[in-house]
Amino acid sequence: MSRRALIAGNWKMYGLAAALGELDALSAALAQQPVDADVAVCPPATLLAAAAARLKGSPILLGGQDCHTAPEGAHTGDISAVMLADAGARLVIVGHSERRRDHGETDALVRAKAEAALAAGLTPIVCVGETIEERQAGQAEAVVGRQIAGSLPERGEAVVAYEPVWAIGTGLTASTAEIAAMHAFVRGVLGARGARVRILYGGSVKPQNAQEILALEEVDGALVGGASLKAADFSAIIRALK
Ligand code: 13P
Repeated sequence: MSRRALIAGNWKMYGLAAALGELDALSAALAQQPVDADVAVCPPATLLAAAAARLKGSPILLGGQDCHTAPEGAHTGDISAVMLADAGARLVIVGHSERRRDHGETDALVRAKAEAALAAGLTPIVCVGETIEERQAGQAEAVVGRQIAGSLPERGEAVVAYEPVWAIGTGLTASTAEIAAMHAFVRGVLGARGARVRILYGGSVKPQNAQEILALEEVDGALVGGASLKAADFSAIIRALK
């Protein structure tokens, strides 16, 4: 199978202008030791245009963290996929569990956002994942299966990120057995298109655990939160790719 690995950093609501120095450091590290993988950083939208200018000529891709379903309109405070693309983004995260939780985003809304991203020429990274209560109730696969069915666009190049909610920002990582089982399940749910869709793991990926996670059969990369904020940690995770 020839899916190209993708390591994406999600800066969440962290990063002022000074944080662009981390991008310079990351870019320098990759220039020194190129990797055969896609590397992306999703900074806050306020930094996108400046980041794009700084990264001119660098293989690092930029992404947004959310987008509206419409290309433009009277939606105060929202940002469209077209605007993200205009600012230099190539990808956008949609349906992150923090947005599902903080903004009540439903599967249908997430799918509409992913479709808007595709229409704007962006690759959507569609996030799914169960809570600890759902896992303990034996519902993890049912929840993730429902999220995929409801939030992944039917066609177009999308990426899926499996991020168990209980492993995000907690330092708790799912075990390699849990990750392997869920990724195999997701691959199955994707059916015929599963051979093309990249499935990332996210949830407390760190330099110390990246190698064993990225080595798993159905893991095509990682969506990294906290450890993507420092170029040294993020490049160590990228280097953990085989
Ligand atoms: P952490 O890596 O900080 O656990 O965050 C994961 C995440 O939510 C990436 O989108």
